[in-house]
Amino acid sequence: MAQFELPEPQPDPLLQLIGRYRADTRSNKIDLGVGVYKDNQNNTPVLAAVKEAEATLHQQQQSKSYLGLTGDIEFVEALGELILPATSITIMGAQTPGGSGALRLAAELYNTAHPNGTLWIGLPTWPNHLPLTESTGVKTATFNYFDRGTQQLQFEAMLNAVNSADAGDAILLHGCCHNPTGADLSLQQWQQLAELIAQRSVIPIIDIAYHGLGTGLDQDLAATRLIAASCEQTLIAASCSKNFGLYRDRTGAVYMAAHNAKTASRAQAMFGQIARKIYSMPPDHGAAVVRMILHNGSLKKLWLDELDTMVNRINSLRTEMAKQSSYLEFVAHQHGMFSLLPLTPAQVNSLIDDHAVYLACDGRINVAGCQPEQIGQFVSALNEVGYSGIE
Ligand code: LMR
Repeated sequence: MAQFELPEPQPDPLLQLIGRYRADTRSNKIDLGVGVYKDNQNNTPVLAAVKEAEATLHQQQQSKSYLGLTGDIEFVEALGELILPATSITIMGAQTPGGSGALRLAAELYNTAHPNGTLWIGLPTWPNHLPLTESTGVKTATFNYFDRGTQQLQFEAMLNAVNSADAGDAILLHGCCHNPTGADLSLQQWQQLAELIAQRSVIPIIDIAYHGLGTGLDQDLAATRLIAASCEQTLIAASCSKNFGLYRDRTGAVYMAAHNAKTASRAQAMFGQIARKIYSMPPDHGAAVVRMILHNGSLKKLWLDELDTMVNRINSLRTEMAKQSSYLEFVAHQHGMFSLLPLTPAQVNSLIDDHAVYLACDGRINVAGCQPEQIGQFVSALNEVGYSGIE
């Protein structure tokens, strides 16, 4: 009888951490693993704005019939308006299953339009960026974005990559709160990069998954707005997982922001056609909730206040970590959930096995997962594994 010859499954190292942390019975365990926000009770709560919208949705929703390939279009428009408020640029897109779904559609669209193009990706990056985009058949090339030994951004290398790209190549950018380094370009650097990208006719694909969790919503979206204003066409993959706390509801959207309205509208139709061949239509619930929040003044205010609470908590943890260890000084100057500590694999293993400090295998910590009272234990554990900060 014919047998499937399937390769040994390779578990995703990041997602594997969730299970390992949950199974650990040590009461002093610290969760700096997957990029999930935690409050001071160590919970990842459903936001109050989400709860309220869900209650109304439960009362008001009359049908679960299909909406169409681009999903909840009012959600898409409301989120698009939040990302790029009224300008002469047309932003049109489709609802997607999370930010990952958005990235997949963006890469698929790019690959359809530029089958010979190369997608440039700065390293280190979110470990799924390469597999996810390459699975569309798109060719990728990498450049150095960041040196974790010195915690320095490699801006020159980034500019060199754009300079060596061909017209029609694409570059993947983290719009804010870089994952895994927390190191973002300054606004001046974004400006310089945007001009070069436009001049070289390179297509920016911006991944925004953590907007609102770095400095503030508008500040975190400033780079995306600047790039979209400078470049003829910008692809944007937006996630609502973190800033709306909708992780498992898989809520996101992909956009084409274009100076030519026809390009945006064609891209929107094409996103739908691509989705049809993969999953047909996105799940509705999270998008309906976000739409209701963004359409309702008081719910939107409640959400923005909750977002403020989250970003303030993250930034006070950053400040406190830097205060408690001079080796973590750089953490206070970085943004969003992550920093990438210059740790060896053996030090990471020892932190997990011997000190119950869970972090990604590359040394990435999710600052948002820490409790203020755990910082001392975290710093001691770092000292005990011989961590000595930057070079
Ligand atoms: C992370 O980077 O930890 C999150 O984006 C979760 C994921 O899907 O990898």
